Amino acid sequence: MERHGSDMLQFAGPTVLRVGVLSWILTSLLVVLIVLDPNAASATHPLQLHGALQRDAPLGIVSHRGAAALAPENTLAAFQLAIDQGVDFVETDVQLTADGVAVLMHDPDVDRTTNGSGPLAGHTYEQLAALDAGAWFSADYAGERVPTLTEFVTVLDAAPTRAFIELKGEWPAERVGEAVELLRAHHLVHRVVLASFERPTLEAIRALAPEYATILLTRELDGETVDYAIGLQVSAVCARQQLIAEHPHALARLRAAGIGAIAYTLNSSKEWQEAVDQGLDFVVTDDPVTLAAWRLAAGHTT
Ligand code: G3P
Ligand code: CA
Repeated sequence: MERHGSDMLQFAGPTVLRVGVLSWILTSLLVVLIVLDPNAASATHPLQLHGALQRDAPLGIVSHRGAAALAPENTLAAFQLAIDQGVDFVETDVQLTADGVAVLMHDPDVDRTTNGSGPLAGHTYEQLAALDAGAWFSADYAGERVPTLTEFVTVLDAAPTRAFIELKGEWPAERVGEAVELLRAHHLVHRVVLASFERPTLEAIRALAPEYATILLTRELDGETVDYAIGLQVSAVCARQQLIAEHPHALARLRAAGIGAIAYTLNSSKEWQEAVDQGLDFVVTDDPVTLAAWRLAAGHTT
C-alpha cells in the first residue's frame, strides 16, 4: 500500500524513537560498565598511543635507569645491556651540572652511585667526569663514567631501541630547548618520549617540542591531575601501580581521553600480572630480562 507523507511520518516517528531509546540504553549500559570496571574498556580496546609510545606488545617494557638490577644504573654499560636484550624502552634520568651540562643521574647527590660526594648540581661537568660511576655496583664495572645526554643519544643512534627520558627537577626553558634541539638533530621524534614530575618542566617541553610524545610523572591521581594531563595533551601518565589501583575512575578517564598508563617500578611477576589485569600499556622495571621471559611465557607478546 502506498503511504502518503503524513502516514510515513507517523510510521517513521516511533521507529526512530525506538532506535534512539535503544541506542541511549546501550550507550548508558556501556558507560556504567566502564565506570564499574575500567579494565573492561582497556582490555578489549588497547589504546593506539601516539609517536614513540606506539605499543608492540600488550605490556611494553621500559628498562629502568638502563637496567638497574643488572648493571650500574644510568651508565652506558647499563643502556647497552638493555638494548642488547631487545627492550622496548630504556629509561633514564637527566639533570644539569653546575655549568649546565645535561648528564644522566637519578639522585640529587652523587654519593650513592659514584665515588664522589655532594650535590650533582654543585659539580661542574669536568668534576663529574672524573668520578667512577660503576665500581659501587661491581668491580666488573669500575671505570664507568656519568654519561652526558649527548653520549646517551649517540648510543641510541646505533640501536633500534626507544628511550623514555625523564628531565629531573625544574629545568630552565633554555636548557629544555637545548635538549630538544639535540634530539631533533638526531631525528629521534619517533623513538623518544620526554617525561617529568615537574609541571613547569613538562610545560616547557610541550611548548618547545610539541611533536614529541610526553609523559606526566605523578604522585597524585586525583581529578585535578587527570584534568591537567588532558589539558596538556600528554600521551601517557606514569605513576606507582598502587596509586593507579586506588584510582580506577582516574584510569578510566585517562583511557577515555586516549592517554596511556604506565606504572613504575615493577620487579615481580605478581606486579606484572596485575599490570596486565589493570590494562596498563607499559611497565617500568629494573629487570627487563626476567620480565621479557615472563611476558613470553605468559603469552603477552602480541
Ligand atoms: O621515570 C619513571 C620512574 O623512574 C620515576 O621514578 O624516582 O625512579 O625516577 P624515579
Ligand atoms: Ca626516572
